[in-house]
Amino acid sequence: MSNLRMNQVLDPNRTGREAADLDRNLRNLIVGQDEAIQQIVNIYQMHLTGMSAPGRPVGNFLFLGPTGSGKTRIVEATAESLVKNSKSVIKIDCAEFQHSHEIAKLIGSPPGYLGHRETHPLLSQEVLNQHHTDTVKISFILFDEIEKASDALWNLLLGILDKATLTLGDNRKVDFSRAMIFMTSNLGVTEMNNLVAPKLGFAPLAAHAAPAGDATKMNEKVAKTGVDAARRKFTPEFINRLDKIVVFKALGSDQLERILDIELSFVQQRVFLSNPDRAFVFVATHAAKNFLLGEGTDLRYGARHLKRSIERCLVQPLSNLIATEQIRGGDYIRVDCAENGPSLVFSKEAEGLPINAMVELVDHQIPNGLSALANAVGFESSRTVSARSSRRG
Ligand SMILES: Nc1ncnc2c1ncn2[C@@H]1O[C@H](COP(=O)(O)OP(=O)(O)O)[C@@H](O)[C@H]1O
Ligand SMILES: [Mg+2]
Repeated sequence: MSNLRMNQVLDPNRTGREAADLDRNLRNLIVGQDEAIQQIVNIYQMHLTGMSAPGRPVGNFLFLGPTGSGKTRIVEATAESLVKNSKSVIKIDCAEFQHSHEIAKLIGSPPGYLGHRETHPLLSQEVLNQHHTDTVKISFILFDEIEKASDALWNLLLGILDKATLTLGDNRKVDFSRAMIFMTSNLGVTEMNNLVAPKLGFAPLAAHAAPAGDATKMNEKVAKTGVDAARRKFTPEFINRLDKIVVFKALGSDQLERILDIELSFVQQRVFLSNPDRAFVFVATHAAKNFLLGEGTDLRYGARHLKRSIERCLVQPLSNLIATEQIRGGDYIRVDCAENGPSLVFSKEAEGLPINAMVELVDHQIPNGLSALANAVGFESSRTVSARSSRRG
């Protein structure tokens, strides 16, 4: 018997399991850009339930905001989470496609043109579909710096955003209705920065340095400035085809600190994956992390500068130590820094550790990468097992 007099309040903010997984994975990888995460998860949820607008891409996103704040990274992280491959993102640097012969790299040239058979268009259906998995059939396309797109490229883009189709040089159609389209632009960055740090002329210190209410207001103001700049520059027909404009926030020192931990865990992961036979564990002390942060903080470049300092101060010395066999498989290496020292100090604290013990040691650090890591070294840790059994249950 149906109950005609129910009055149960429903919760529209709860997401299904797949969307919740994506949300969690992105939060583990992306720092300080919660709105962007939320928007991507929302769009994915709509796609999963078949509620997306028909005949359109899965989602059309415009990302604005400072350099090195995670615009590209979040696209890679989404691909990593959904199709297990961050390299599946098709990146198109709009500045590189100014002339018709360059557009031909994207769509191929018409039949009869010299070299027609040799051109393999970058945006063919095969390329789009090549990273689909059994369960997830979504492609990820990133158009960088769209304000630099030529008219010809712009027209292609409008067609994709609106009709989810692209016509190749030889008239074949490519279907983008299973694609997430991401576009980035530097528009408004100068104005946004001036708003936050008019005297310094570069990105703000962490938003959290100000009282929470002020920070929220400032973030809203910055976001509005960015969106206004986009509305001034781009035509309404373009703006109307976007599902969402997200303004990425400048990263502050607290956020860079969290990104440092993520990046260090990736270096550790690299050590394991590149050569499991020679895997070793390194642990960076607080002083070492502070040193890397000091070297790597230039708020104009967000996390880019930090990554460079990790490569220079940690990865390069490590690889010398590996090449000269000062570090061998099974070693436990402490990375420290003398007070005001000019560089990091490496010391061996143990050797001969079995692979299982090493995986256990680094296990908790690596966001979302654990099972990949464990698989690569042929080891099943207790956490992978429990994650699996809880899913089954
Ligand atoms: N919000 C963030 N969370 C985590 N890592 C980040 C973030 N922003 C930047 N990074 C790190 O810095 C690198 C450069 O950032 P990227 O996403 O390429 O910047 P952009 O906003 O200019 O596209 C990324 O590969 C990532 O390692
Ligand atoms: Mg980028």
